[in-house]
Amino acid sequence: MKKLLFLLCLLAALLLTGCGGTQAPRANTDAGDYIVVGFSQVGAESDWRNTNTRSMQEAPSERNGYRLIFDDSQQKQQRQITAIRNFIQQEVDYIVLAPTTEEGWDTVLSEARAAGIPVIIVDRMIEVADEELFTCWVGSDFRKEGRTAVAWMEEHFGDQPLEIVHLQGNIGSSAQIGRTEGLDEGLAAHENWHLVFRGAGDFTQAKGQELVEALLNEGVPFNVIFAENDNMAYGAIDALKAAGLEPGRDVVIISFDANRAALELILKGEISCDVECNPMHGPRVQNIIEQLEAGETPPKLTYVQETSFNEETLSPEVLEWREY
Ligand code: AHR
Repeated sequence: MKKLLFLLCLLAALLLTGCGGTQAPRANTDAGDYIVVGFSQVGAESDWRNTNTRSMQEAPSERNGYRLIFDDSQQKQQRQITAIRNFIQQEVDYIVLAPTTEEGWDTVLSEARAAGIPVIIVDRMIEVADEELFTCWVGSDFRKEGRTAVAWMEEHFGDQPLEIVHLQGNIGSSAQIGRTEGLDEGLAAHENWHLVFRGAGDFTQAKGQELVEALLNEGVPFNVIFAENDNMAYGAIDALKAAGLEPGRDVVIISFDANRAALELILKGEISCDVECNPMHGPRVQNIIEQLEAGETPPKLTYVQETSFNEETLSPEVLEWREY
């Protein structure tokens, strides 16, 4: 009888644990059976970022067994470090980090490692002494994006003289570093391409507008704006129009992200070339977590496939199927 009771208990225990025994027990008991994910987001500086937040909130959601703890760092790295420490204290199952800048993560990620929490990096990249401090990364090849924009400029202008205004994203972020490197390569290869201004617009529309307004007020001559994202391009366009200039005709605008609204501006002739940066990372992160939960090893680095759009090739039909 005792033996039968023991066997019944064993069977019940196996059923309760799902028999497999490969899944780590959920650390956060308050969250029941959910997989708890702490997500530290850069902020809400751009349309791209807001789409990315939506994608992250919709994919790994309570509908499919996740509980996402979302933290907006308002573009401040220190706030992200605090958020990660809070996630560690809450004993989340995974930490997902969309980093503001590349450097400065070693200490806090060592703390996450000591707590045994896998860290997934999304969108921008980080620079750490020990690559084992993060489990894997998924995001964009920002240098390639910069080179794609420069390839379009080469095809379009060749060695014609250009007076270029360069609106940078927040300094030290991979998106800024890669796109700036792309332009620098173009500048080095074309002696007639002149950089008349370079400054950080932090990926925001307000700063993009402010910087271009100031240049126009100072009377700095330019015929190209290389804006490192769509929102800065929108701000630049507003400033040009307010000064009576016609974007696309008086000043060529090159941008990044390729949000739907920016593609509409290509069709109107205001933006000439826009290099895509894909924000739909939610399902990709969910897929990585599912692989980890299944005991598999996802690729360390996953680059998202991206394209570019320009005034010669974009057709209105593209907008019909565009997700963002
Ligand atoms: O890291 C991606 C960049 O960050 C996007 O180009 C920009 O719009 C966002 O703020």
